[in-house]
Amino acid sequence: MEEPVVVGIDIGTTKVCTLVARVEGERGFRILGVGIEPSQGIRKGTIVDLSAASQSIARSVEKAQRSSGLEITSALVSLAGSHVASVNSRGVVGISGGIIDQDDVARALESAQAVAIPHNREIIHVIQRGFTVDGQDGIRMPIGMHGYRLEVEGHIITAAAATVENLRQCVQASGVQVSQFVLNPLASAEVVLSETERQMGTVVCDIGGGTTDMAIYIDGDVWHTMVLAVGGNHVTSDIAHGLRLALSQAEEIKKQYGYAIEAEIDDNDTFTTRSFGEEQAVQISRRDLAHIIEARVEEIFQLVLQEIKRSGYDGLLPAGMVLTGGTSLLPGIRSLASQVLGLPVRIARPENLYGLVDQLDSPAYSTSVGLLSWAMLMSETSPAPRRSSWKGGKAIDWDTLRSFLRRLLP
Ligand SMILES: Nc1ncnc2c1ncn2[C@@H]1O[C@H](COP(=O)(O)OP(=O)(O)OP(=O)(O)O)[C@@H](O)[C@H]1O
Ligand SMILES: [Mg+2]
Repeated sequence: MEEPVVVGIDIGTTKVCTLVARVEGERGFRILGVGIEPSQGIRKGTIVDLSAASQSIARSVEKAQRSSGLEITSALVSLAGSHVASVNSRGVVGISGGIIDQDDVARALESAQAVAIPHNREIIHVIQRGFTVDGQDGIRMPIGMHGYRLEVEGHIITAAAATVENLRQCVQASGVQVSQFVLNPLASAEVVLSETERQMGTVVCDIGGGTTDMAIYIDGDVWHTMVLAVGGNHVTSDIAHGLRLALSQAEEIKKQYGYAIEAEIDDNDTFTTRSFGEEQAVQISRRDLAHIIEARVEEIFQLVLQEIKRSGYDGLLPAGMVLTGGTSLLPGIRSLASQVLGLPVRIARPENLYGLVDQLDSPAYSTSVGLLSWAMLMSETSPAPRRSSWKGGKAIDWDTLRSFLRRLLP
């Protein structure tokens, strides 16, 4: 049987990336179509100009259709922005038959969703963080077990309904239905985290252009998620202001000469460029540039550290941080992060890709490729507990369902 084709649209602050892929082997993908377009009308993860955003999404979808030769009708779409919030909630149900089945798990998850969610917010994910059967906690997969009372600890991620609706409209304008929204850090985590890291306890941090997306994994599950409205664009605008350069120039300089730790740059290290409004090229010290960059990047990691502490899980992350997103390409950022956070830090990018992969070999595409992993898991486990976005009816593959429930449900 041929593996299904999966589609993801990563709508970022700096680029829209549509990927079409076929599942190949263990968690690997053959990329059939790629559509990368600069994004317009999107700031800090939210849409600020409907028509501009729709157009960049449409261009990206069209490119992916052309390169794959396939028509895209539905896709998983990334979601981020400061409008995203999360709460932990517990669901409890009684088991009538004495043996827990899939329906009971679904009911338990549904009851965990019965928290007061304001009408202007939409539930994006309900992630289970472990079950308790008749008072015994720490159960990973209760299906098939005996018991009379099933409890589930859920992590519920909600987003502003209007913002989600705008995003849905923009995607639909290209003739593509959104099969599900996936929170950025959860998508990135799917491709950059190893099973050991998930089990030991780790925080994945995706620093893009406009947002910094984080998720904490402990004991194999997502325990906490956060989205901060800061990213690489702030570094660029600091450089533009500090050195009196146009934004586009500041962006180029950041990529070409940028470094995250001032003290590691030699005093005599300089480069030349033309300042805003100046006729003559000027000489700029790389150390001055690094000074500006370090101040902002350090501030971002201070915010990250604050969020980790606020989650209460700061002592539970022996595997440290896995850093990804375009901004993680900044030289020196790994050691700066490690200094500020007091954690080991590793930089990760998508792996196990085949086919049209030239452009995707960068941490900037972790979310984009992560959407494909979600799509794959979803298509293989269609019989999900009563959710409108899940259209199913295939025979249940219990092994897949089990691993799926364990990590992602729904
Ligand atoms: N070599 C590099 N050095 C420093 N920064 C870089 C480099 N390459 C890319 N960046 C920065 O990475 C950022 C873009 O990252 P990415 O593509 O992950 O963002 P995005 O997904 O579009 O945005 P977001 O996820 O925040 O909505 C930009 O700020 C860009 O300047
Ligand atoms: Mg991104």
